[in-house]
Amino acid sequence: MQLGRHRWARRVASMTSFKVVDFLEAAERMQAAGRDIVRLEAGQPAFSTPRPIAEAARRALADEKTRYTPALGIAPLREAIAAFYAQRHGLKVAPERIAVTTGSSAALGLICDLLIEPGDGFLLTDPGYPCNANFVRRAGGEPQWVPVAAAERYQLTAAALAAHWRPNTVGALVASPSNPTGEIIARDQLAALHAATREHGGALVVDEIYHGLIYDEPETSILEFTDEAFVVNSFSKYFGMTGWRLGWMVLPEAAIEPINVMAQNFYISPPSIAQYAALAAFQPVVIDELEARRNEFRRRRDFLVPALRELGFDIPFAPAGAFYIYAGIAGLADDCEAFCWDMLERAGVAFTPGTDFGSHLARQRVRFSYTEPLERLELAVSRLRTALAAR
Ligand SMILES: Cc1ncc(COP(=O)(O)O)c(C=O)c1O
Repeated sequence: MQLGRHRWARRVASMTSFKVVDFLEAAERMQAAGRDIVRLEAGQPAFSTPRPIAEAARRALADEKTRYTPALGIAPLREAIAAFYAQRHGLKVAPERIAVTTGSSAALGLICDLLIEPGDGFLLTDPGYPCNANFVRRAGGEPQWVPVAAAERYQLTAAALAAHWRPNTVGALVASPSNPTGEIIARDQLAALHAATREHGGALVVDEIYHGLIYDEPETSILEFTDEAFVVNSFSKYFGMTGWRLGWMVLPEAAIEPINVMAQNFYISPPSIAQYAALAAFQPVVIDELEARRNEFRRRRDFLVPALRELGFDIPFAPAGAFYIYAGIAGLADDCEAFCWDMLERAGVAFTPGTDFGSHLARQRVRFSYTEPLERLELAVSRLRTALAAR
Protein backbone atom coordinates (compact mmCIF):
# COMPACT_ATOMS: atom_id res chain seq x y z
CA MET A 1 0.00 0.00 0.00
CA GLN A 2 1.36 3.42 -0.91
CA LEU A 3 0.33 7.05 -0.61
CA GLY A 4 2.12 9.20 -3.17
CA ARG A 5 5.85 8.64 -2.65
CA HIS A 6 5.33 7.26 0.84
CA ARG A 7 5.11 3.60 1.73
CA TRP A 8 3.69 2.16 4.95
CA ALA A 9 6.12 0.67 7.45
CA ARG A 10 6.51 -3.11 7.13
CA ARG A 11 5.49 -3.75 10.75
CA VAL A 12 2.03 -2.39 9.97
CA ALA A 13 1.55 -4.80 7.09
CA SER A 14 2.22 -7.70 9.49
CA MET A 15 -0.56 -6.62 11.85
CA THR A 16 -3.82 -8.52 11.91
CA SER A 17 -7.26 -6.92 12.01
CA PHE A 18 -10.12 -7.77 14.32
CA LYS A 19 -12.72 -9.93 12.50
CA VAL A 20 -15.21 -9.15 15.23
CA VAL A 21 -15.36 -5.62 13.84
CA ASP A 22 -16.73 -6.97 10.55
CA PHE A 23 -19.54 -8.67 12.49
CA LEU A 24 -20.08 -5.65 14.66
CA GLU A 25 -20.43 -3.41 11.63
CA ALA A 26 -22.68 -5.87 9.80
CA ALA A 27 -24.89 -6.21 12.92
CA GLU A 28 -25.10 -2.43 13.16
CA ARG A 29 -26.03 -2.12 9.48
CA MET A 30 -28.76 -4.73 9.92
CA GLN A 31 -30.08 -2.94 13.02
CA ALA A 32 -30.06 0.39 11.18
CA ALA A 33 -32.16 -1.29 8.49
CA GLY A 34 -34.71 -2.19 11.18
CA ARG A 35 -33.74 -5.79 12.00
CA ASP A 36 -33.44 -6.90 15.64
CA ILE A 37 -30.03 -8.49 16.26
CA VAL A 38 -28.94 -10.08 19.55
CA ARG A 39 -25.44 -8.75 20.01
CA LEU A 40 -23.17 -11.36 21.58
CA GLU A 41 -20.04 -10.48 19.63
CA ALA A 42 -18.43 -7.58 21.49
CA GLY A 43 -16.32 -7.65 24.64
CA GLN A 44 -18.01 -4.93 26.61
CA PRO A 45 -20.73 -5.09 29.25
CA ALA A 46 -24.07 -3.53 28.28
CA PHE A 47 -24.21 -2.09 31.84
CA SER A 48 -23.54 1.62 32.05
CA THR A 49 -20.80 3.18 34.17
CA PRO A 50 -21.98 3.27 37.83
CA ARG A 51 -23.60 6.60 38.63
CA PRO A 52 -21.18 7.74 41.41
CA ILE A 53 -18.32 7.43 38.90
CA ALA A 54 -20.19 9.49 36.29
CA GLU A 55 -21.03 12.08 38.97
CA ALA A 56 -17.38 12.32 40.02
CA ALA A 57 -16.56 13.02 36.36
CA ARG A 58 -19.14 15.80 36.22
CA ARG A 59 -17.64 17.34 39.36
CA ALA A 60 -14.14 17.07 37.89
CA LEU A 61 -15.34 18.85 34.77
CA ALA A 62 -16.99 21.61 36.84
CA ASP A 63 -13.73 21.94 38.81
CA GLU A 64 -11.81 22.17 35.53
CA LYS A 65 -9.66 19.13 36.15
CA THR A 66 -8.94 19.21 32.47
CA ARG A 67 -5.15 19.52 32.38
CA TYR A 68 -2.32 17.03 31.95
CA THR A 69 -1.61 14.97 35.05
CA PRO A 70 1.64 13.22 36.05
CA ALA A 71 2.51 10.61 33.41
CA LEU A 72 1.92 7.69 35.77
CA GLY A 73 -1.38 9.10 37.04
CA ILE A 74 -2.62 11.29 39.88
CA ALA A 75 -1.29 10.26 43.31
CA PRO A 76 -4.73 9.73 44.96
CA LEU A 77 -5.72 7.26 42.24
CA ARG A 78 -2.46 5.32 42.53
CA GLU A 79 -3.06 5.19 46.29
CA ALA A 80 -6.68 4.10 45.83
CA ILE A 81 -5.59 1.26 43.55
CA ALA A 82 -2.95 0.19 46.09
CA ALA A 83 -5.63 0.21 48.81
CA PHE A 84 -7.83 -1.96 46.56
CA TYR A 85 -5.08 -4.63 46.41
CA ALA A 86 -4.82 -4.49 50.21
CA GLN A 87 -8.56 -4.87 50.64
CA ARG A 88 -9.18 -7.53 47.96
CA HIS A 89 -6.04 -9.60 48.19
CA GLY A 90 -4.47 -8.60 51.50
CA LEU A 91 -1.47 -7.41 49.46
CA LYS A 92 0.79 -4.50 50.24
CA VAL A 93 1.59 -2.85 46.92
CA ALA A 94 3.50 0.46 47.02
CA PRO A 95 1.50 3.14 45.13
CA GLU A 96 4.77 4.10 43.36
CA ARG A 97 4.68 0.72 41.59
CA ILE A 98 1.27 1.49 40.11
CA ALA A 99 1.18 3.25 36.75
CA VAL A 100 -2.18 4.51 35.53
CA THR A 101 -2.52 4.15 31.76
CA THR A 102 -4.75 4.99 28.82
CA GLY A 103 -6.65 1.70 29.04
CA SER A 104 -4.78 -1.51 29.67
CA SER A 105 -4.03 -1.36 25.93
CA ALA A 106 -1.46 1.36 26.64
CA ALA A 107 -0.05 -0.72 29.49
CA LEU A 108 0.38 -3.77 27.23
CA GLY A 109 2.09 -1.63 24.58
CA LEU A 110 4.46 0.04 27.04
CA ILE A 111 5.43 -3.29 28.60
CA CYS A 112 6.17 -4.82 25.19
CA ASP A 113 8.18 -1.73 24.20
CA LEU A 114 10.16 -2.04 27.43
CA LEU A 115 10.90 -5.76 27.24
CA ILE A 116 11.26 -6.59 23.56
CA GLU A 117 14.22 -5.92 21.27
CA PRO A 118 13.76 -6.42 17.52
CA GLY A 119 14.06 -10.16 16.88
CA ASP A 120 13.09 -11.22 20.40
CA GLY A 121 10.31 -13.75 20.85
CA PHE A 122 7.41 -13.55 23.28
CA LEU A 123 5.21 -16.50 24.22
CA LEU A 124 1.47 -15.98 23.72
CA THR A 125 -1.37 -18.45 24.07
CA ASP A 126 -3.35 -19.65 21.04
CA PRO A 127 -6.22 -18.86 21.51
CA GLY A 128 -5.64 -15.51 23.18
CA TYR A 129 -6.44 -11.80 23.04
CA PRO A 130 -5.62 -10.88 19.41
CA CYS A 131 -4.06 -7.46 20.06
CA ASN A 132 -1.22 -8.97 22.10
CA ALA A 133 0.56 -10.26 19.01
CA ASN A 134 0.38 -6.79 17.47
CA PHE A 135 1.93 -5.16 20.55
CA VAL A 136 4.78 -7.66 20.24
CA ARG A 137 5.13 -6.92 16.51
CA ARG A 138 5.06 -3.16 17.11
CA ALA A 139 8.12 -3.60 19.34
CA GLY A 140 9.82 -5.55 16.52
CA GLY A 141 9.32 -8.88 18.27
CA GLU A 142 8.05 -12.24 17.13
CA PRO A 143 4.85 -13.65 18.64
CA GLN A 144 5.56 -17.27 19.61
CA TRP A 145 2.31 -19.18 19.85
CA VAL A 146 1.70 -21.89 22.36
CA PRO A 147 -1.40 -23.94 21.45
CA VAL A 148 -3.43 -24.44 24.62
CA ALA A 149 -6.11 -27.08 25.09
CA ALA A 150 -9.33 -27.43 27.04
CA ALA A 151 -7.63 -30.02 29.28
CA GLU A 152 -5.31 -27.24 30.54
CA ARG A 153 -8.22 -24.80 30.80
CA TYR A 154 -6.82 -23.15 27.67
CA GLN A 155 -3.96 -21.72 29.72
CA LEU A 156 -0.19 -21.77 29.49
CA THR A 157 1.32 -24.35 31.84
CA ALA A 158 4.87 -24.31 33.19
CA ALA A 159 5.58 -27.46 31.15
CA ALA A 160 4.30 -25.88 27.91
CA LEU A 161 6.32 -22.75 28.64
CA ALA A 162 9.49 -24.82 29.00
CA ALA A 163 8.70 -26.80 25.83
CA HIS A 164 8.14 -23.67 23.72
CA TRP A 165 10.89 -21.45 25.12
CA ARG A 166 13.39 -20.74 22.33
CA PRO A 167 16.84 -19.12 22.39
CA ASN A 168 15.34 -15.73 21.42
CA THR A 169 12.36 -15.90 23.84
CA VAL A 170 12.38 -13.15 26.45
CA GLY A 171 9.05 -13.59 28.17
CA ALA A 172 5.48 -14.83 28.27
CA LEU A 173 2.12 -13.08 28.40
CA VAL A 174 -0.93 -14.74 29.92
CA ALA A 175 -4.39 -13.55 30.90
CA SER A 176 -6.44 -14.91 33.79
CA PRO A 177 -9.38 -15.00 33.23
CA SER A 178 -8.65 -15.12 29.53
CA ASN A 179 -10.29 -13.71 26.47
CA PRO A 180 -11.76 -15.65 24.56
CA THR A 181 -12.10 -18.64 26.92
CA GLY A 182 -12.97 -17.06 30.30
CA GLU A 183 -10.66 -19.59 31.90
CA ILE A 184 -8.34 -18.89 34.80
CA ILE A 185 -4.88 -20.04 35.82
CA ALA A 186 -5.22 -21.94 39.10
CA ARG A 187 -3.16 -20.75 42.04
CA ASP A 188 -0.50 -23.49 42.00
CA GLN A 189 -0.18 -23.21 38.23
CA LEU A 190 0.38 -19.46 38.48
CA ALA A 191 3.17 -20.04 41.02
CA ALA A 192 4.69 -22.69 38.73
CA LEU A 193 4.51 -20.34 35.75
CA HIS A 194 6.33 -17.66 37.70
CA ALA A 195 9.04 -20.14 38.74
CA ALA A 196 9.45 -21.44 35.17
CA THR A 197 9.74 -17.94 33.65
CA ARG A 198 12.28 -17.00 36.28
CA GLU A 199 14.29 -20.14 35.61
CA HIS A 200 14.49 -19.15 31.94
CA GLY A 201 15.55 -15.63 32.86
CA GLY A 202 12.46 -14.13 31.18
CA ALA A 203 9.67 -11.74 32.12
CA LEU A 204 6.13 -12.76 33.00
CA VAL A 205 3.27 -10.45 32.04
CA VAL A 206 -0.09 -11.30 33.61
CA ASP A 207 -3.20 -9.59 32.26
CA GLU A 208 -5.70 -9.47 35.14
CA ILE A 209 -8.21 -7.25 33.30
CA TYR A 210 -11.08 -9.69 34.01
CA HIS A 211 -10.37 -9.79 37.74
CA GLY A 212 -13.55 -9.08 39.67
CA LEU A 213 -15.40 -11.28 37.18
CA ILE A 214 -14.61 -14.75 38.53
CA TYR A 215 -17.67 -16.69 39.63
CA ASP A 216 -16.99 -19.75 41.76
CA GLU A 217 -13.28 -19.94 42.41
CA PRO A 218 -10.91 -17.77 44.42
CA GLU A 219 -9.24 -14.90 42.59
CA THR A 220 -5.46 -15.13 42.66
CA SER A 221 -3.17 -12.31 41.60
CA ILE A 222 0.39 -13.08 40.50
CA LEU A 223 1.37 -10.35 42.98
CA GLU A 224 0.76 -12.91 45.73
CA PHE A 225 3.88 -14.74 44.56
CA THR A 226 6.23 -12.12 43.23
CA ASP A 227 7.05 -8.44 42.83
CA GLU A 228 8.88 -9.21 39.59
CA ALA A 229 5.93 -9.83 37.27
CA PHE A 230 4.27 -7.16 35.14
CA VAL A 231 0.59 -6.97 36.04
CA VAL A 232 -1.98 -5.38 33.74
CA ASN A 233 -5.46 -4.32 34.82
CA SER A 234 -8.17 -1.89 33.76
CA PHE A 235 -11.29 0.03 34.68
CA SER A 236 -12.88 -1.23 31.45
CA LYS A 237 -14.51 -4.52 32.37
CA TYR A 238 -15.34 -5.04 36.09
CA PHE A 239 -15.83 -1.29 36.60
CA GLY A 240 -17.84 -0.90 33.37
CA MET A 241 -15.74 1.95 31.96
CA THR A 242 -14.60 0.78 28.50
CA GLY A 243 -14.93 4.18 26.83
CA TRP A 244 -13.16 6.12 29.57
CA ARG A 245 -9.87 4.60 28.44
CA LEU A 246 -8.33 4.01 31.83
CA GLY A 247 -6.21 1.10 33.00
CA TRP A 248 -3.22 0.47 35.20
CA MET A 249 -0.23 -1.76 35.65
CA VAL A 250 1.75 -2.88 38.67
CA LEU A 251 5.45 -2.77 37.86
CA PRO A 252 8.58 -4.33 39.26
CA GLU A 253 10.53 -1.56 41.05
CA ALA A 254 13.24 -1.37 38.39
CA ALA A 255 10.72 -0.79 35.58
CA ILE A 256 9.07 2.30 37.11
CA GLU A 257 11.51 4.86 35.77
CA PRO A 258 11.84 3.60 32.17
CA ILE A 259 8.05 3.22 31.96
CA ASN A 260 7.68 6.75 33.30
CA VAL A 261 9.96 8.08 30.55
CA MET A 262 8.03 6.22 27.84
CA ALA A 263 4.63 7.23 29.26
CA GLN A 264 5.72 10.90 29.37
CA ASN A 265 6.81 10.76 25.76
CA PHE A 266 4.11 8.62 24.22
CA TYR A 267 1.02 9.74 26.18
CA ILE A 268 2.04 12.72 28.40
CA SER A 269 -0.65 11.55 30.82
CA PRO A 270 -3.70 9.30 31.04
CA PRO A 271 -7.05 11.12 30.56
CA SER A 272 -7.58 13.48 33.52
CA ILE A 273 -11.38 13.48 33.83
CA ALA A 274 -11.39 9.67 33.70
CA GLN A 275 -8.84 9.54 36.52
CA TYR A 276 -10.88 11.80 38.79
CA ALA A 277 -13.98 9.78 37.93
CA ALA A 278 -12.18 6.53 38.79
CA LEU A 279 -11.43 7.83 42.29
CA ALA A 280 -15.12 7.14 43.00
CA ALA A 281 -14.88 3.56 41.71
CA PHE A 282 -13.69 2.03 44.97
CA GLN A 283 -16.49 3.38 47.19
CA PRO A 284 -18.43 0.58 48.94
CA VAL A 285 -21.64 1.66 47.19
CA VAL A 286 -20.00 1.20 43.79
CA ILE A 287 -18.35 -2.09 44.73
CA ASP A 288 -21.76 -3.36 45.95
CA GLU A 289 -23.25 -2.51 42.56
CA LEU A 290 -20.38 -4.19 40.72
CA GLU A 291 -20.75 -7.30 42.86
CA ALA A 292 -24.46 -7.40 42.00
CA ARG A 293 -23.45 -7.21 38.33
CA ARG A 294 -21.02 -10.04 38.87
CA ASN A 295 -23.88 -12.18 40.22
CA GLU A 296 -25.92 -11.25 37.18
CA PHE A 297 -23.09 -12.36 34.88
CA ARG A 298 -22.93 -15.67 36.75
CA ARG A 299 -26.68 -16.14 36.24
CA ARG A 300 -26.27 -15.50 32.51
CA ARG A 301 -23.38 -17.94 32.25
CA ASP A 302 -25.34 -20.57 34.14
CA PHE A 303 -28.21 -20.17 31.70
CA LEU A 304 -26.22 -19.96 28.48
CA VAL A 305 -23.71 -22.79 28.94
CA PRO A 306 -26.29 -25.63 29.26
CA ALA A 307 -28.57 -23.99 26.68
CA LEU A 308 -25.78 -23.88 24.08
CA ARG A 309 -24.72 -27.42 24.92
CA GLU A 310 -28.26 -28.56 24.25
CA LEU A 311 -28.07 -26.94 20.80
CA GLY A 312 -24.95 -28.99 20.00
CA PHE A 313 -22.16 -26.59 20.95
CA ASP A 314 -19.25 -28.30 22.65
CA ILE A 315 -18.38 -26.59 25.96
CA PRO A 316 -16.23 -28.95 28.04
CA PHE A 317 -16.73 -27.00 31.29
CA ALA A 318 -18.37 -23.80 32.42
CA PRO A 319 -15.82 -20.98 32.10
CA ALA A 320 -14.59 -19.65 35.45
CA GLY A 321 -14.78 -15.95 34.66
CA ALA A 322 -14.93 -12.96 32.28
CA PHE A 323 -18.13 -12.90 30.19
CA TYR A 324 -17.14 -15.26 27.41
CA ILE A 325 -18.02 -18.77 26.34
CA TYR A 326 -15.60 -20.39 23.93
CA ALA A 327 -17.57 -23.12 22.22
CA GLY A 328 -16.76 -25.92 19.76
CA ILE A 329 -18.92 -26.17 16.65
CA ALA A 330 -17.57 -29.43 15.19
CA GLY A 331 -21.02 -31.05 15.45
CA LEU A 332 -22.70 -28.08 13.77
CA ALA A 333 -20.48 -26.70 11.00
CA ASP A 334 -17.06 -26.97 9.32
CA ASP A 335 -16.02 -23.36 9.30
CA CYS A 336 -16.61 -20.84 12.07
CA GLU A 337 -16.60 -17.77 9.83
CA ALA A 338 -19.22 -19.12 7.41
CA PHE A 339 -21.20 -20.36 10.42
CA CYS A 340 -21.12 -16.94 12.19
CA TRP A 341 -22.23 -15.15 8.99
CA ASP A 342 -25.00 -17.70 8.46
CA MET A 343 -26.28 -17.33 12.04
CA LEU A 344 -26.12 -13.55 11.82
CA GLU A 345 -28.16 -13.60 8.61
CA ARG A 346 -30.68 -16.30 9.44
CA ALA A 347 -30.95 -16.17 13.25
CA GLY A 348 -30.20 -12.51 13.83
CA VAL A 349 -27.61 -13.44 16.47
CA ALA A 350 -24.09 -12.00 16.28
CA PHE A 351 -21.11 -13.83 17.80
CA THR A 352 -17.42 -14.07 16.98
CA PRO A 353 -15.53 -16.69 14.93
CA GLY A 354 -12.68 -18.49 16.71
CA THR A 355 -10.27 -17.39 13.97
CA ASP A 356 -10.15 -13.96 15.63
CA PHE A 357 -8.22 -15.43 18.54
CA GLY A 358 -5.62 -17.67 16.92
CA SER A 359 -5.29 -20.62 14.59
CA HIS A 360 -5.15 -23.69 16.85
CA LEU A 361 -8.44 -25.50 16.13
CA ALA A 362 -9.87 -22.02 15.65
CA ARG A 363 -12.05 -22.92 12.63
CA GLN A 364 -14.10 -25.16 14.92
CA ARG A 365 -14.61 -22.55 17.64
CA VAL A 366 -16.75 -19.48 18.25
CA ARG A 367 -16.96 -17.01 21.13
CA PHE A 368 -20.17 -15.83 22.75
CA SER A 369 -20.14 -12.73 25.03
CA TYR A 370 -22.92 -12.81 27.60
CA THR A 371 -22.92 -9.07 27.98
CA GLU A 372 -26.63 -8.72 27.13
CA PRO A 373 -29.53 -9.22 29.61
CA LEU A 374 -30.89 -12.69 30.27
CA GLU A 375 -34.08 -12.17 28.19
CA ARG A 376 -31.90 -11.36 25.17
CA LEU A 377 -29.82 -14.50 25.77
CA GLU A 378 -33.04 -16.54 25.89
CA LEU A 379 -34.12 -14.98 22.63
CA ALA A 380 -30.72 -15.76 21.08
CA VAL A 381 -31.00 -19.42 22.09
CA SER A 382 -34.50 -19.79 20.71
CA ARG A 383 -33.52 -18.12 17.42
CA LEU A 384 -30.42 -20.31 17.11
CA ARG A 385 -32.53 -23.41 17.79
CA THR A 386 -34.89 -22.52 14.95
CA ALA A 387 -32.10 -21.62 12.53
CA LEU A 388 -30.12 -24.78 13.29
CA ALA A 389 -33.21 -26.98 12.88
CA ALA A 390 -33.92 -25.43 9.47
CA ARG A 391 -30.58 -26.49 7.94
C1 LIG B 1 -7.60 -9.72 27.66
C2 LIG B 1 -7.72 -8.26 27.35
N1 LIG B 1 -6.69 -7.45 27.67
C3 LIG B 1 -6.75 -6.13 27.39
C4 LIG B 1 -7.85 -5.55 26.78
C5 LIG B 1 -7.84 -4.07 26.49
O1 LIG B 1 -8.77 -3.38 27.25
P1 LIG B 1 -8.69 -1.83 27.66
O2 LIG B 1 -7.67 -1.17 26.82
O3 LIG B 1 -10.08 -1.32 27.45
O4 LIG B 1 -8.30 -1.80 29.12
C6 LIG B 1 -8.95 -6.36 26.44
C7 LIG B 1 -10.14 -5.80 25.78
O5 LIG B 1 -11.06 -6.46 25.37
C8 LIG B 1 -8.88 -7.75 26.75
O6 LIG B 1 -9.89 -8.60 26.45
